[in-house]
Amino acid sequence: YGWARHTFVVQETPYTKLCSTKTILTVNGQIPGPTLHVTKGDTIVVEVRNKANYNVTIHWHGVKQPRNPWSDGPEYITQCPIQPGQKFRQKIEFSSEEGTLWWHAHSDWTRATVYGAIVIHPKKGTSYPFPKPHAKVPIILGEWWKKGITELYDEFLASGGDPNVSDAYTINGQPGDLYPCSKSETFKFTVDHGKTYLLRIINSALQDILFFGIAKHKLTVVGTDASYTKPLKTDYIAISPGQTFDVLLEANQPLADYYMAAKVYSSALGVEYDNTTTTAVLHYNGYDDGRNSSSTPFLPDLPSFNDTNASANFTGSLRSLADDGHPVHVPLNISTPLMFTASVNTFPCANGESCAGPNGSRLAASLNNISFQLPSTDILSAYYYQINGVYGDKFPNVPPLKFNFTADVLPQYLLTPKKGTEVKVLKYNSTVEIVLQGTNLAAGTDHPMHIHGYSFYVVGWGFGNFDKDKDPLGYNLVDPPLQNTIAIPKNGWATIRFKANNPGVWFMHCHLERHLSWGMDTTFIVKNGDHSDAKMLPPPPDMPSCS
Ligand code: C2O
Ligand code: CU
Repeated sequence: YGWARHTFVVQETPYTKLCSTKTILTVNGQIPGPTLHVTKGDTIVVEVRNKANYNVTIHWHGVKQPRNPWSDGPEYITQCPIQPGQKFRQKIEFSSEEGTLWWHAHSDWTRATVYGAIVIHPKKGTSYPFPKPHAKVPIILGEWWKKGITELYDEFLASGGDPNVSDAYTINGQPGDLYPCSKSETFKFTVDHGKTYLLRIINSALQDILFFGIAKHKLTVVGTDASYTKPLKTDYIAISPGQTFDVLLEANQPLADYYMAAKVYSSALGVEYDNTTTTAVLHYNGYDDGRNSSSTPFLPDLPSFNDTNASANFTGSLRSLADDGHPVHVPLNISTPLMFTASVNTFPCANGESCAGPNGSRLAASLNNISFQLPSTDILSAYYYQINGVYGDKFPNVPPLKFNFTADVLPQYLLTPKKGTEVKVLKYNSTVEIVLQGTNLAAGTDHPMHIHGYSFYVVGWGFGNFDKDKDPLGYNLVDPPLQNTIAIPKNGWATIRFKANNPGVWFMHCHLERHLSWGMDTTFIVKNGDHSDAKMLPPPPDMPSCS
């Protein structure tokens, strides 16, 4: 077909960081893994070969995969894992995205080390809606544990409490100057004074929303989640796991070196968090290295770890570009109004176990009080081949009860959700609105919610309880940002809209990995339309088997 082909070899590779060595899962031995460069409109094939001793799947985060959920990647949603020694060819079509996305493993917590950037260039004959940058660079934020990820995950499951906090945040895989044994490998980006650069910033961290900035430099956000935005000048960005930002940087400062840095935004007070800072160096060409002189580089001033306003205000300032070349298509008449509550809850600890959740409970999470359970056969094949008993279609339409979601003291009976593998079925081309309401059950915190197969317009947000009589009056239906991941602010709400024009089976979940594992998930089944080009494609011949 003349489609570009890539090979991703998932393998175990020894890595030394923070003065200690462990074996990690990588793609092609690299961390971050290879950057995929494509042009809007391209279709590529990635052959994923599993040479590791561990099940894995790969997901193309934010790529809509029109009519082709088979290549989407989340384990037990659209496929069974690729087993050791097996391979799977995934076809990826870039139909409407332009800018920066990323790929990552979507199997247990393997995405901790299995991730990389996707860069989608403008089509030939078109260009960016901003002056052409001198150079571009991916800046991938991540987390590093000295411990093995499988061990970390198993301990997390066994404990019933929060996972261990990471030992470092990273920029392009490196912790940076402020951590032990790290300085010689700190990521360095060299610029010429007077030129403008495009940073493609991705948050691949497992558990944390991060603040990012560059000392003495302004950032101009021009895109998010592979969709252009009105230029937004800012001192810092708040970036959730899953999100991407395209940011212009003017190299206009007089010294040799400045730190770019990221540190945690953690709204769950009382929950342990990592207070360290990862750095990379912005170095001006032709100057001596300031890191080795008597004056160390400046660090950016980032908001404090609990500054919920700083996070929400940044996110709430994003606007779609919405010009002639980049029109918005916000659904105006809503056929399917939905409301989902996103909660951290608890289950009673099983007999004989001791659990680290509040009052000896086991922590859980839910959407509309259903704690999602992954099946052992994928939902997509169960739907396609009509296999009964894998999932139910009783995902509740409305929150089970009306209550003050964000009160300090909430009724005890709401603490314990129901377990279930319940999906939400949508008619083809239905116009969907979802009010995402955060709650304060076991813990109030932000929830970066992500939907596969779609981007959505974020038409409104606020703190406290959503008010259906008042809040819709403030919706932005003119230039709301088009995103694939949106952080519901702590004890607040956000409203999203999309048109269900991509038939298939699509996962929706909180992109904080612990919340995903606890069940803050559901799945959409979007039915076929009547037209032949409104139907799901057939499966490829090499789908990984479930046995
Ligand atoms: Cu970044 Cu379910 O994905
Ligand atoms: Cu969450």
